[in-house]
Amino acid sequence: MKVAIASDHGGFELKQKLLQHYQNATFEFVDLGTDSTVSVDYPDFAEKLCQAILNKQADFGVLICGTGIGISIAANRHKGIRAALLYSLETAKLARQHNNANVAVFGGRTMTFAEVVERLDAFLSTEFEAGRHSRRIEKLDVYGGC
Ligand code: RB5
Repeated sequence: MKVAIASDHGGFELKQKLLQHYQNATFEFVDLGTDSTVSVDYPDFAEKLCQAILNKQADFGVLICGTGIGISIAANRHKGIRAALLYSLETAKLARQHNNANVAVFGGRTMTFAEVVERLDAFLSTEFEAGRHSRRIEKLDVYGGC
């Protein structure tokens, strides 16, 4: 399984720590930048990562900015992308079970490393429940004109 990961400068340090932590994991991280703490624009990195998922170069994505908010907004403008800002362990599981989220989003300045690892582990190991949720997911790509 491939997991694309990208951040702006506000998420750079957390991204590097995650790359290190998951070096020997069962999945492979594909690092799409940014490459330093120099100021960049989060929509550019959301775009790179969403294209990687939509082009099937990765199965899931991880996006990080300072709060996780801006990069969530940017990612969710892409049809077929369901990016969830994981603010608890419970929402990390529910984002997969109910929303079939394909991108986990974190705040590099608002979450601890331990919180992020716990939530990402849960996100990547939880299945979509389908059933009634499938109908709702399908409507996401019908409404809104994205
Ligand atoms: C960058 O300073 C900051 O605005 C960005 O990382 C993010 O938090 C935006 O939502």
